[in-house]
Formats: sequence, C-alpha cells, structure tokens
Amino acid sequence: MARKKIALIGAGMIGGTLAHLAAKKEMGDIVLFDIAEGMPQGKALDLSQCGPVEGFDAKITGSNDYADIAGADVVIVTAGVPRKPGMSRDDLLGINLKVMKAVGEGIKNNAPDAFVICITNPLDAMVWALREFSGLPHNKVVGMAGVLDSARFATFLAWEFGVSVKDVNAFVLGGHGDTMVPVTSYTTINGIPAKDFAKIKGVSESRIDEIVDRTRKGGGEIVGLLGNGSAYYAPATSAIAMAEAYLGDQKRVLPCASYVEGKYGLDGLYVGVPTVIGAGGTEEVIEIELSDEEKNNLKVSTDAVEELLEACKGLDESLK
Ligand code: LMR
Repeated sequence: MARKKIALIGAGMIGGTLAHLAAKKEMGDIVLFDIAEGMPQGKALDLSQCGPVEGFDAKITGSNDYADIAGADVVIVTAGVPRKPGMSRDDLLGINLKVMKAVGEGIKNNAPDAFVICITNPLDAMVWALREFSGLPHNKVVGMAGVLDSARFATFLAWEFGVSVKDVNAFVLGGHGDTMVPVTSYTTINGIPAKDFAKIKGVSESRIDEIVDRTRKGGGEIVGLLGNGSAYYAPATSAIAMAEAYLGDQKRVLPCASYVEGKYGLDGLYVGVPTVIGAGGTEEVIEIELSDEEKNNLKVSTDAVEELLEACKGLDESLK
C-alpha cells in the first residue's frame, strides 16, 4: 500500500505537536509547511531526530513551498494567528481570512484530493472560507472543534465525579464559540446518563451548569493562562483522531464542524454536529433529538455562526 502523506499548514505550536503525533503514530510522510523561512525546516529536523529515541520511522520535511504538499491525503490547517488574552476568537476574522485565502488556493493547486481539517479560528467561519478558496467538496473539508470541546467537557466531568476520563462520553454541539452547546442529556459515564450519575455522586445541577460554562469558555481559560498563545496539545490530538478516522475508514462518530444542509433546521452551514468520518470524508451528519431548551441553545449558537459568516462573506468580497 502506498505511504500516506500528511500536510500540516502552519508550523507553530499546534503544527509542531501535530507533526510529532503523526510521526509517533507512523501515519505517513509528513510535510510541515510555513511561510516563515527556516522554521518548518528546523522543526522537521528536530522532530526527525526524535525517531531513533522514540522508535518511530517517519519522513518529516519542512517547507515554504506549497508545491511540496502535492498529493497529500490529509491536510491539517493551523495557519494564522491565535488570540491573545481579552480577545474573542471572532476578533481574528479579518487577519485569518486572508491567510485562509492563500492556504485554500495552495490546497486547490496542489492537494485537491485531500481531506482537509481546519483548526484556525474563528473555526466555523474559517472552515467555510477554506472550502470556498480550495473549491473542494463539502464532505472533504471539516473543522476540528467538537472533539476538543467534548474532551474538555469530559475532563471537567471526570474530575468532578472522581472517575476515569476513559469512562466519560461527553458531547458538545454548535459553534466553536462561547455559545457552544455541551449536551448533558447525551453525556454518559460508562452508559449512565450524566444527570443520574450526578445524583449518585451528590453533584448539584448548578455545579453541572458551572462545568458547562467552564467548557464553553475552555479555550479562553487556556489563552488567559498561557498569556501569549492558545491551546495546542488537545487541539492537535483532536485533529489527529479525525485524520485517523479518515485514513483508516474508521466510520467514527465524532462531533466536528461539518457542512449541515437539511438537518437541525439548517440550510448550508458549517457547525459542530455528530458526524460519521470514514474514507468518504464527512460521510453523514447524525441528527439527534434535542429537548426544547437544547434546541433553543443550538439556535443561539448557529445564529452566532451565521452572523459571523455574514461578516466573513463581506470581508471575502473585499479580498477579491
Ligand atoms: C481553543 O478552544 O483552545 C482554541 O479555539 C483556541 C482559542 O482561542 O480558544
């Protein structure tokens, strides 16, 4: 079988972490791209020298030339700038949209058959932009957010309940902003609904609400702590899980920012929903039944994404 090729666009903290994870898992040959000269080459060289110690054999190349991503099976995009403390993800719209234009065109010209995973913020709008600029089909462009947000929710619940994170199956829908919707009704502790588990453990509803709120603001909490940058380990891990699902045709059901048309009352919007990922890319969006309150919360979140997208489309016009 031909070796797979993973192109990582952006060689910052997430890009470097992605390269390390992909190499450790021997997912294929890795191209680490960045416009900063020397930086992707230096990181690629450094990471290559982990191989003999960690026992992986992966070809890792650094590049400043989009031609080097030619034929990539998976492209993971982290290019652009992260927010700083006090900023919202949406504040990055203008600056990162310009970056997505260059990246989308690079993909269109060099890796048109790839499965593209976007991590750049503001996530839901940047996925849309990457799809527009690359011209790839909707099922081949997706945003990494739900896996990360769900992992945050699961972590906080596991700490609160005093149980292993392995047994928490948490679930977050909606946009990757402060209106995201952690869906407690679909969150389980080894099959036991989270609300029932909370009763067993004597955890109050208001405490669960606090955890929901912390999850919503989870990215900002880390931005505040780091002071100069945003989370990178968990975002990279989340994107790698999605890439593995695609490369291995795993048919995993993962919450991610997929193109939703005709489900959840949406008429063509990238937003976080449970999605089957396999060799066909985002093969199916799963529509789950929600309570009235959850439906309202989801509407607030999708409205926020739509509003952001309108701003994005206005800026996009000015880029033409
Ligand atoms: C995250 O959720 O960690 C990322 O979207 C980065 C950020 O700015 O919060």
